[in-house]
Amino acid sequence: MSGAHPIVSRLYDPVMAIPERTMLPEHREYLVADLSGRVLDLGAGTGAMFPYFAGHPEIELHAIEPDPGMRRQAESKAHSLGLPVEISDAGGESLPYEDDSFDAVVASYVFCTIPDPAAALSEVARVLKPGGEFRFLEHVRADGVVGELHDLLAPAWHTVAGGCHLNRETGTMFRTDERFELVDYSQLSGRTMPMIRGTLERRPESQLYRWILDWVPVW
Ligand SMILES: C[S@@+](CC[C@H](N)C(=O)[O-])C[C@H]1O[C@@H](n2cnc3c(N)ncnc32)[C@H](O)[C@@H]1O
Repeated sequence: MSGAHPIVSRLYDPVMAIPERTMLPEHREYLVADLSGRVLDLGAGTGAMFPYFAGHPEIELHAIEPDPGMRRQAESKAHSLGLPVEISDAGGESLPYEDDSFDAVVASYVFCTIPDPAAALSEVARVLKPGGEFRFLEHVRADGVVGELHDLLAPAWHTVAGGCHLNRETGTMFRTDERFELVDYSQLSGRTMPMIRGTLERRPESQLYRWILDWVPVW
């Protein structure tokens, strides 16, 4: 959801209540397993990941969330969990953080909504330390006839689902990005709404590339 979607932000937790209790916990556990250090929750929404981060003092959590209604709910969830987290009003395409400043970035159901996903992935690459992990859980376009149905429904879905794109090929974008090594990738069940889950590791940039960035003047 880019911008403010007051109705969607109010309905989000009630609509997600059943999947959050049944199928999502194992995937959300995957996103946080064995993390430590500085971690960014990209597009935190109402703070669905926060209960999974709570009770991990080895994690210094930061979050961004551009929708004010979502952000307010995330702040109140963090407060009730006693979870220290700084939630910034920012979009994934322009992160208010320094280069190489995170040990991990976590994204759940966000790349379907971010208006410019390629720019956001570049920002993930920029803020991750070399060797840092990008962990994701996303829904993607189905194959075959269902994929064609996704294409057909996508404009209406975008309107009612707060800017979400039903038919994005997010998995292809993640798997083919040279800046990351593919550590783990699975396509999860669900013919009508396939999901992907996985981990990319930030490759170190070559010294030559760093040198060029540092020394070539910007005109
Ligand atoms: C479907 S919700 C997912 C929220 C949460 N991550 C979860 O797992 O429930 C998508 C979220 O992406 C946020 N969003 C929209 N545009 C964004 C952008 N440009 N950058 C980062 N997040 C964005 C929305 O406001 C919304 O909270």
